[in-house]
Amino acid sequence: MTLDIADLRREYTRAGLGRDDLNADPVVQFERWFQDACDAGVREPNAMSLATVDGVGSPGLRTVLLKYFDSTGFVFFTNLESSKARQISQNQQVTLLFPWLDLERQVTISGRAETVSRAETLRYFSRRPHESQIGAWISQQSSVITSRKLLRMKFEEMRRKWRDGEVPLPDFWGGYRVWPQRVEFWQGRPNRLHDRFLYRRREGNTWQIDRLAP
Ligand SMILES: Cc1cc2nc3c(=O)[nH]c(=O)nc-3n(C[C@H](O)[C@H](O)[C@H](O)COP(=O)(O)O)c2cc1C
Repeated sequence: MTLDIADLRREYTRAGLGRDDLNADPVVQFERWFQDACDAGVREPNAMSLATVDGVGSPGLRTVLLKYFDSTGFVFFTNLESSKARQISQNQQVTLLFPWLDLERQVTISGRAETVSRAETLRYFSRRPHESQIGAWISQQSSVITSRKLLRMKFEEMRRKWRDGEVPLPDFWGGYRVWPQRVEFWQGRPNRLHDRFLYRRREGNTWQIDRLAP
């Protein structure tokens, strides 16, 4: 191989993160950084890695899209019969990671994932484009399929079925809200002396903030 990966490295010089920069509430701090990512033109700033663990401790990891967040948690939507959903039913503890590499930043959020109500799921589902609503119906996410052709045929069939009408919410599709217990903000710095701050939820919903070694 001509490319020596071991020599790929960059110095992180864009910004620093000090205690005075931090909001006492990690959700507000996240909102600021999310806005920075949008302003900087980060592609898909709401794409996050979702780590789950099953009942015997085997991990799973995949990208999902954050759809909204507030003090009650961070919400994504998915198939409720997928591998990730099965893992969450066995262990509700999950971690989310936002890799905002253009800003030399990452945020990790760990906490418990709870399913969102059907009413809330329906509110979000009805905002989705018609075609993605149909897409939610046709895929038995994470199951083995024989060909792409079958998917396309099913899609066309459903498209005909709901050509003029509203697409109903599948009962196997829904959302999870991650209630944060730990949130870490990481800012790259020169010479690998990065800034890291960890928020840990205390009794009474205040947050302990500590600087971590890089
Ligand atoms: C940028 C990007 C965004 C994605 N967003 C979602 C999403 O919001 N929900 C979802 O179920 N899958 C999403 N996926 C697909 C998942 O990564 C994954 O393939 C799928 O959910 C099945 O995961 P599982 O088998 O671990 O359950 C996305 C993939 C990418 C690359």
